[in-house]
Amino acid sequence: MYCTKKITEDLYWVGANDRRLAMFEGVYSVPRGVSYNSYLLLDEKTVLFDTVDKAVGPLFFENVEHVLNGRDLDYVVIHHMEPDHSATFLELLLRYPNVKVVCNQMILMMIKQFFNKDLTDQAVIVGDKGEFCSGKHNFTFYTAPMVHWPEVLMSYEHEDGILFSADAFGTFGALNGAIFADEVDFDAEYMDEARRYYTNIVGKYGEQVQMILKKVHGLEIKMICPLHGFVWRRKIESYLDKYVKWATYTPEETGVCIAYASVYGHTENVAEIISSELRDRGIKTVMYDVSVTPASEIIAACFQYSHLLFCSTTYNAGIFVSMEELLHDLAAHNIQNRTVAFVENGSWAPTSGRLMREIIGGLKNMTMLNETVSLKSALRPGQEADIKALVDAIDKTIPKFEAPKVDEAKMAAAEIDSKTFQKFSYGLFVLTAQADGRDNGCIINTAIQLTSQPNRISIAVNKANHTHDMIKATGMFNISFLSESAVMDTFKHFGFQTGKEVNKFDEHIPVSYAHSANGLAYITTGTNAYMSGKVVDMYDYGTHTLFVADVTEAVVLNNDPSVTYAYYFAHIKPKPQAKLEEERHGWVCKICGYFYEGDELPADFICPLCKHPAEDFERVG
Ligand code: FEO
Repeated sequence: MYCTKKITEDLYWVGANDRRLAMFEGVYSVPRGVSYNSYLLLDEKTVLFDTVDKAVGPLFFENVEHVLNGRDLDYVVIHHMEPDHSATFLELLLRYPNVKVVCNQMILMMIKQFFNKDLTDQAVIVGDKGEFCSGKHNFTFYTAPMVHWPEVLMSYEHEDGILFSADAFGTFGALNGAIFADEVDFDAEYMDEARRYYTNIVGKYGEQVQMILKKVHGLEIKMICPLHGFVWRRKIESYLDKYVKWATYTPEETGVCIAYASVYGHTENVAEIISSELRDRGIKTVMYDVSVTPASEIIAACFQYSHLLFCSTTYNAGIFVSMEELLHDLAAHNIQNRTVAFVENGSWAPTSGRLMREIIGGLKNMTMLNETVSLKSALRPGQEADIKALVDAIDKTIPKFEAPKVDEAKMAAAEIDSKTFQKFSYGLFVLTAQADGRDNGCIINTAIQLTSQPNRISIAVNKANHTHDMIKATGMFNISFLSESAVMDTFKHFGFQTGKEVNKFDEHIPVSYAHSANGLAYITTGTNAYMSGKVVDMYDYGTHTLFVADVTEAVVLNNDPSVTYAYYFAHIKPKPQAKLEEERHGWVCKICGYFYEGDELPADFICPLCKHPAEDFERVG
């Protein structure tokens, strides 16, 4: 039975997952499976983007047939000829004999090599910057040699801003029901597998990856559709940033990746002692026993960390076999720009240190530390100095950002005057959301711009607000910028009552409003602009949630000055009535005027109207 995913209005994922494969490409373990992605576009012409591995062929063809829903397949675009994406191509030709093949000359040649078929008459040849149109959608092709084979093409779809990236931006791991990277906790659950995938599959070809990143740099990429792993539609820049680091062999983290080969545990013992001493100095370490850890994991870690420590016993007058394999593998993946140290062991003739140094010394821009620890069988008394010298040498090359010396008692006694917070020059906004067909809004003073490329803002919203829950559930909001022409009634209406109890957009609303392109309300009285946000991230900060959002609409309504917090206090909020204050004994909220009767205001008191804390109350009477 088919299992497809809708990606956009007319683009579908028709790939499949393989969780039974033991070794991807016969080399890399994939304990969490792998996905083979194929995409099908239903335009005036139907276009399939790549096929899949033979292991998942039957489901793939059911998927294609289901999405085509009786239509013929007009085109198949081949971005990459490696059989994990092309093994089912021949069967595709048999099932859809009228299909035209969009590819480059090298792909055409590889089709002949793999399938003994000359498709010259059936091919639409596109080179670098070649163009293709399927009806409403226009594509530009980019050659991406060696990412991961020499024939690789990527294509950019102009109308929706989609980059079909071939192997690039993929990851190991089956999709498990999700299709977009933002549907899972990618950093926690998949980033290690993405790094292992990149470094092992194309790590060697950093220069070529940099070239394709430069080629697509000016494109407005709104979505990335790779051949493995998730489709990217949010936080694309952060994943691109990882690719820039990996392609330029720039460490992601300062720390020491320790890989050791130890037959009877003595070399491991020294690796442990060094790791422990580095940790004592606040230096992050990770440790791998090369005899039991797949090389692909250690290679990924070597790309991640700034410092590498290789510890190996001598074996048949050479390096221990699994360490030797690892180092040659690492050299083949072109690792660069690292600081490297060694520990060697040999009961009668330790040679592994010199030999390991020879392999790594041939790589680009490696800083080799001289303080090798040399063991004869086991660490002997007196050799602590050798370990200290090696740890000192590593420590010296770690950038230090020493914190200033702090007098804790003085800091604990430091004054926090709540009036200081009113000196912030931020503005005030009506924050609106919509859920279940109902508009709601509240007042916030916590909207700021984060970045301009892309246009991104953040808002912090008190969890007690009904608007908070609506935004959390729908991922959409508007902010209306209050101007100096705003009146107290607006603040009272949106700030001093809750949408859980009243409909703030009923006939009693004291302002006029309209609806923006996203369908949400924005205020047109006492405001000078509005902005629509689509949430891309949420962070929990106890009483508040910080929402990070892409700006989807931004409109200036007039040139009235924006209201500031200070202006609100000086000109909008009514002054306390002296006579009344004399007669009352208690506490008044400086923000909204709520009166709390009583001598003592509880320290954890929250204003029931505007949700401000006890610090914002002042004593009266
Ligand atoms: Fe996923 Fe290079 O094949």
